[in-house]
Amino acid sequence: MLVPSIYEMVVYHPRLARKAQPGHFVIVMADERGERIPLTVADFDREKGTITLVVMAIGTSTRKLVRLAEGDSLFAMIGPLGHASELDVPQGTVIMVAGGVGIAPIYPIARAFKEKGHRVIIIQGSRNKDLLFWTEKAAAICDEHIITTDDGSAGRKALVTEPLKELLEANRDHENDPAAVRCIYTIGPAVMMKFCTLTAQPYNVPAVASLNSIMIDGTGMCGGCRVRIGGETKFTCVDGPEFDAFAVDWNLLMSRQKTYCEAEKCSLDRYVQQAGMEVQK
Ligand code: FES
Repeated sequence: MLVPSIYEMVVYHPRLARKAQPGHFVIVMADERGERIPLTVADFDREKGTITLVVMAIGTSTRKLVRLAEGDSLFAMIGPLGHASELDVPQGTVIMVAGGVGIAPIYPIARAFKEKGHRVIIIQGSRNKDLLFWTEKAAAICDEHIITTDDGSAGRKALVTEPLKELLEANRDHENDPAAVRCIYTIGPAVMMKFCTLTAQPYNVPAVASLNSIMIDGTGMCGGCRVRIGGETKFTCVDGPEFDAFAVDWNLLMSRQKTYCEAEKCSLDRYVQQAGMEVQK
């Protein structure tokens, strides 16, 4: 367990580890009756043949997943799925904004930008210090690491949009500077990504968001993950998961994320009862 309700899993799968790129995701099933859970690849080690996943135990299936012990096997894992991150941006600064568990998927992307010679700034936001994880890991692969918490218990008491706005404001007159901000990446709760996008809008810097829509098959067949991008219907699993943040219909994404709330709650209540567990709020 990294912090309450958030778990790191290292999965041995040499073929997948060989092919995984920053931005890819996998779909896993804890057991044959489990839901298919999409998880972005948080790290990979080609030599050891492993990939790292970070799981937030919030529903029935994610709880089943985090109950697996070292040496257990997943029922299934498919991937790598989706398009890898677009790392071909002009040399300069890249701002990576991660909210909550979003630091996990942002990590390999930030590392890849750093390896390509970019100046990387990570803004890592969390509700409080007890929910922060991978801070040292993130700090080790970037040039500047800014932590914000809602209650000020670690880093700066602010929303991630505050330092984002300051950085973009400072960048305003330096568009020809070699260290100018060339791209913004945002991964986290949809509402956070929406507000990062709105914050970035006046500054004429491209922004990319990795969308966490509901997924079922992960192969473009079911339509469950559909989103509106620039007025067109796209499927997060095969067309994404990363999209131009300015083109995303954020309100539709957020309303679709609530589609199964009631069913998920019933399922979790039933599972908790059967397993005799306590529901962590
Ligand atoms: Fe089914 Fe994308 S998850 S179409």
